[in-house]
Amino acid sequence: MVVPYKHEPFTDFTLEANQKEMHQALKKVEADLGKEYPLIINGERITTEDKIVSVNPANKEEVVGYVSKANQELAEQAMKVADSTFETWRKSDPKFRADVLFRAAAIVRRRRHEFTAHLVKEGGKPWKEADADTAEAIDFMEYYGRQMLQFKDGSEINSRPIEYNQFHYIPLGVGVVISPWNFLFAIMAGTTVAAMVTGNTVLLKPASATPVIAYKFMEVLEEAGLPAGVINYIPGSGSEVGDYLVDHPRTRFVSFTGSRDVGTRIFERAAKVHSGQKWLKRTIIEMGGKDTIVVDNEADLELAAQSIVQSAFGFSGQKCSACSRAVIHEDVYDQVKDRVVELTKELSVGDPASNKHFMGPVIDQGAYDKILSYVEIGKKEGELLAGGEGDDSKGWFVNPTVFGDVDPEARIMQEEIFGPVVGLTKAKSFDHAIEIANNTEYGLTGAVITNNRVHQEKAREDFHVGNLYFNRGCTAAIVGYQPFGGFNMSGTDSKAGGPDYLIHHMQGKTTSEMF
Ligand code: NAD
Ligand code: ALA
Repeated sequence: MVVPYKHEPFTDFTLEANQKEMHQALKKVEADLGKEYPLIINGERITTEDKIVSVNPANKEEVVGYVSKANQELAEQAMKVADSTFETWRKSDPKFRADVLFRAAAIVRRRRHEFTAHLVKEGGKPWKEADADTAEAIDFMEYYGRQMLQFKDGSEINSRPIEYNQFHYIPLGVGVVISPWNFLFAIMAGTTVAAMVTGNTVLLKPASATPVIAYKFMEVLEEAGLPAGVINYIPGSGSEVGDYLVDHPRTRFVSFTGSRDVGTRIFERAAKVHSGQKWLKRTIIEMGGKDTIVVDNEADLELAAQSIVQSAFGFSGQKCSACSRAVIHEDVYDQVKDRVVELTKELSVGDPASNKHFMGPVIDQGAYDKILSYVEIGKKEGELLAGGEGDDSKGWFVNPTVFGDVDPEARIMQEEIFGPVVGLTKAKSFDHAIEIANNTEYGLTGAVITNNRVHQEKAREDFHVGNLYFNRGCTAAIVGYQPFGGFNMSGTDSKAGGPDYLIHHMQGKTTSEMF
């Protein structure tokens, strides 16, 4: 028996003892910087000439690791291994698979600050955000392990007196898991282990900006007893290795988390049936957001401003759940706007390793350039109230930026910027605010700050997002508590960390025996 699931508590870094441990962990990680990491196919380490260079976004000179890069030939080798390993792994005991996850969770928990320190360096995450990422990775393992134990005996169905009917879930086959860099540990680990614990074999292609954490996670799974060949680690270029594997006739499903453009490309490519392919590929595709906080005129305005600022600028706005638009009732617009600007100007930006700043860098030069180009667009579309500058001399730092009086149809109110930029707009009424909140092609998260119960119920019915929050910010879903995933162009709403997530990785089989 396992104890009921409970989410992993966050570390209190106001305590000196925790600060000391974290500084020690950072030293340990610093001593490991610049190492080389091979691919892992069938448990074998394969080193290639061609490397992905993972750098610390807060300090471009600091190389986190040199990671061997797969090409199509190696991807094919990994596919053959995953395909043949599936024949044994599909019959493995689900309890054994869950136990691997419980052991892996325990290993990560024991080395928690070391993982967190790594995320500070490779992802540019402030301590608090990095700690939450590690905790979420642990949560995914603990939660999906328990979910699999519930699914393993199938579901109750009826039988007539002359028959014995059973219904249970079987795995799908080889899954290609493609993960993003922003939750470099949690999403990479969660999507990978969900595919594995359900009895599938996996080809893991982590984001090119953050491949080292995925290697370290592979080591944890091996230590926890995962057999060779079940998960194969093949970092590589999205367009080369990604397309090849998405198109591959032996790929049974693709689990992708990332941008709308890449997600829709994968959706289209996976729909094509290739020669020799015996199934329709399944896709689990979770994409971007343009997430809105709505502020009513009957609301706690301090809570509203705090929620907007925390949700817009936590991890430099690089969360799919980040608030990038606030729609504020015109009666309270000026008050909320002034307080948002005041709070934003108090935020400091700098190297996250020091734990002295609220915000760290953005992930790379491409992100930096894209965000600043949106800032220029924003200057034409609204009034710049705070921020608006960046500094890429050492790392990629962008100041938290607020635009006021932006038209809801403006580009900065419609397109995902994925950086610390928020636009404020006025609504004439609560109904008008919900109308504006729904006017993007996305539908991931949203929040409503109101003390009016009727308005709250209206939002519950009409605000069309996968994760809707009341009187709090729109980020920070917790595994097993707030299943996470979005509507419309935010994805397939597979609800990571939710009770039916694992089912997407399996197929139901009915057996009926006559007496
Ligand atoms: P991205 O789409 O650029 O990359 C995601 C992954 O896809 C990476 O591993 C990348 O190498 C790979 N890839 C790129 N081209 C590919 C191709 N042609 N075929 C296959 N794979 C390919 O996204 P990103 O910049 O890593 O992440 C940020 C995006 O992810 C944002 O849009 C964010 O909103 C979204 N996101 C969504 C969720 C969610 O749960 N909905 C969670 C986190 C991030
Ligand atoms: N699950 C993450 C959040 O809710 C993306 O912020």
